[in-house]
Order: sequence, then C-alpha cells, then structure tokens
Amino acid sequence: MSKPVSICVIGSGYVGLVAAVCFAEIGHHVICVDNDEAKVKTLREGGVPIYEDCLPELLAKHLDRGVEFTSDLASAVERSEAIFIAVGTPQGETGAADLSYVEAVVSEIARHISSYKVIVEKSTVPVYTNEWISRVLHRHGVDTQSFDVVSNPEFLREGTAVIDFLHPDRIVVGANSERAAEVLRRIYAPLTTGVYYEQPRSLAGSCTAAQPARLLVTSAQSAEIIKHASNAFLALKISFINAVANLAESVDADIEDIAEGMGLDTRIGPKFLRAGLGYGGSCFPKDVAAFHWVAHQQGVNFKLLQEIRKINETQRDIFYNKVLAALWTLRGKRLAALGLAFKGDTDDIRDSPGIEVIKKLIEAGAMVTAYDPAAMERTKAVLPPSDKMRYAGDAYEAAKDADAVLILTDWKQFGKLDLVRLNQAVRFPIVIDGRNLYKPQTMHEHGFTYVSVGRPASYHAQQGKPRGMAL
Ligand code: UDX
Repeated sequence: MSKPVSICVIGSGYVGLVAAVCFAEIGHHVICVDNDEAKVKTLREGGVPIYEDCLPELLAKHLDRGVEFTSDLASAVERSEAIFIAVGTPQGETGAADLSYVEAVVSEIARHISSYKVIVEKSTVPVYTNEWISRVLHRHGVDTQSFDVVSNPEFLREGTAVIDFLHPDRIVVGANSERAAEVLRRIYAPLTTGVYYEQPRSLAGSCTAAQPARLLVTSAQSAEIIKHASNAFLALKISFINAVANLAESVDADIEDIAEGMGLDTRIGPKFLRAGLGYGGSCFPKDVAAFHWVAHQQGVNFKLLQEIRKINETQRDIFYNKVLAALWTLRGKRLAALGLAFKGDTDDIRDSPGIEVIKKLIEAGAMVTAYDPAAMERTKAVLPPSDKMRYAGDAYEAAKDADAVLILTDWKQFGKLDLVRLNQAVRFPIVIDGRNLYKPQTMHEHGFTYVSVGRPASYHAQQGKPRGMAL
C-alpha cells in the first residue's frame, strides 16, 4: 500500500479503538493512547474491552506490528504526524456536549509539539470546536506554523464498526488548510484508491477496487455540521416512522407495508424506517440534543429536533402501555425480557430503550427475567440481580412460566425463536414485540396473542382482546 503515516489516536473507546486498529489494517503505524492504565494493559495483552465484530481478529493481526498501546501521550505525540482525538464528549446538563476531555487532551498535546502536526477531531463535536482547539494551542504558545486542525467525523455504527470504517459511504475531511487535507488524503489513500480492497486478506464489504471509498473535503465548520446533521436526520427518520406507526395502528394499517411502500421511493430509501421502541445508544440521543443546543446558541429556530426527541421518548411509554393493556395489572406478574442492549449485535446498554421499559415495569411491581446474548454483564451493574430482576441463560429459560414475553432488542436470534418451544415454556402465550421481529400471522398460527408496533394486534382465542383500553 502507500507510504505509511505515523498516527496517534487518543482515546481507546468505540471510535478510537476501531480507528486505531483499522488505520493499522490499511498499513499505517499507529500508537493508541489512553490514560486508563488497566485498559491499556488489557489491550496490550490482546484483550478487547468491547463487543465488536471483527475487532478481536484485527487486533490480533496488528498488535505490536501496526498498532501499539500506551498511556504515554508525550512520546506518542512526538512520534506522530497526525494526532486523532477520539475522547468522549458526553452530554452536559444543558444538552450541549461537554468538551472538557477534548480541552484537556489538547492542552497536553500542546506541551509536546516540536514539529508540524495535524490534529484531527474524530469525537463528535459542535461546530467551531476546530477553532477552539486552535485557540487553546495558541494559548499554550504553539505557533501557527506547527499545526493544523482538521475535522474528520466518524460515522461508524456499533456492531458493524470495523466494516463501516473500511467500507465507508463517505470520508469527510473538514480542513481549512490544503497541507492538512493532503495528510488526510494520504492516510485514507488505501481506501480511496481501492488498493486496500485488492489485498488478499482485506475484509470484504460494499467498497471494491473498482468502486473505492469517496473522500469529501469541506471546510472544518461544514464537516462538524455534516456529522450532527447526519445523525439528527437518521433519528428523524426513525421518529417519523414511529409517529406514522402510531397512526397506522389506530386505523388498522400495517407499518411494515407502509415502510416498504415509502422506502421503495429512491428519494426516501428503505433504511432507518424500522418502527419500534425507538432509538437509543451513545450517539443519537446525545447528538440530537447537542445539535439543538448548537442551533439555539446561533439563534436558529430548530424545534424539529425537540420533536424528534419527544416522539422517541413517547415510544417507550406507548410500549409500556401495551404491556399494561395486555396484562391488566403488573404487580406480581412474571415478564420475560428479550434484549437489553440498545440494539442487536452490541453489548452497549447506553440509553437502551429496553432497559428503561424494564425499570418502569419493575417499579410497577412486575418481576422480570431478562436474557441478552451480550449485554447481561453490563446490565447487572445498573440492575443487579434481585427477586424482581433475574437473568437467564437463554430466551426459553427467560420465558419459563412468564405471563408475557417482551421483545426489546432486535437481535437476529430473537426473530428466529422456536415458537413451539416458546409456547411450551410460558404460562400465557402473549408476546409483546417492540421490534416487529415476527409476522402477526405466524404468531397467530403458533397460538400467541401478539402485540407489536404499528400493526393490528392478533389475539389468541383464550387470551381475548382487552376492552376499554387503547393499545
Ligand atoms: C449511529 C449512527 O448510525 C452512526 O453513523 C454514528 O456514527 C453513531 O450513531 P449506532 O448508535 O451504533 O450508530 O446505531 P444505529 O445502528 O444507527 O442505531 C441507532 C438506534 O436506532 C438503535 O437504538 C436502533 O435500534 C434504532 N433504530 C435504527 C430504529 O429504531 N429503527 C431503525 O430503522 C434504525
């Protein structure tokens, strides 16, 4: 591949770790820095602290060859041409992103710049962060010739982060200097020229040597806004389809047919039109709030963003009411909860809609037995095992003697359950599906009362249709 670039990635969270390992995969020399010594030790031993497809294999391939881990930021900065900042930008009280970790890292970088460096923001940050980073560097006495600051937002999804990185829909580089843009072009050249996809051991995905990744160079401010606006727009699609689902339900229409009919319009597209419990995770809730704050700061009316959030939050209440309507009362009821992660293929439970629903059900007196293929350990830290909250070894164990089974996360395996076995396990055959993983007809044929989102509920004869309660 092209000439390797010396890269330092600061932060070994989802974004930093994936970026570090993937930069090594495309041929660069990477030093990944984290101030959490225990995490650095785990990574040095080849351990991966997050559940992410392909990551353990890639780490094993590049550890101590293309990528190394350290907590020594000073030497990592000195040895690198490009420094990627991938530290957390959590949501502050006002909805604004808390940039104190970014500022702390920039101040430390400033002390160790001895030659030209490109400093790249990879964390999701509000517009003008780029300028603030430059200002902080100046304040620490770094002269303007010694650095450029570039915005290179990350669009990876948890669960498919590695493939998203290596096969991106687009790479956005927000640079106000041609010299810096050129360094970023060199870094991503294996993907944009297609050379990476020709390698015999390259990971397959949507890009090929004939159709390589596209790189878009914009101003720093535009790149910062592209990131926020993209996530807000995807969240909008989800909230929009959920609002339509609620309407569909009240007129006995089917949201799956509606989404298909809408998605076939190439201007709309089929993706992110899955109705259900709504979005969660570390990005959408935080980014919608932060983008709203940015607009507000600039005096721009962007109330639509508040509406996206409100619809999303209401979706959780609507699901809770479905459980209530199907079971009448909750005190003492045994509920099987399938799924804890905020979506399938991840162990991440940050802002998980399912966990929020479980908490509310427990408050109302229900006893929950949960199963998740990856997120149970993390959930135990926030919902420790008790007589109200139990954890099972699989979906059927969770469903044993349950008054109802709730599907909360779209893990593929939850859409392929042995329905005969499930029916035998439960006390009453009631499934309330917050992710629309089954066809109502199939559930009906297997003797279940089946309640989902944006579709007519089907009632098993012995369960009866609840009267006087809006589902
Ligand atoms: C998201 C963005 O997709 C990614 O580009 C960005 O960089 C980080 O945030 P991620 O949070 O990993 O990625 O998950 P994603 O797959 O986008 O799903 C977000 C949430 O929306 C999940 O809770 C998911 O269940 C929900 N969702 C998604 C829906 O409810 N319906 C859909 O149609 C799609």
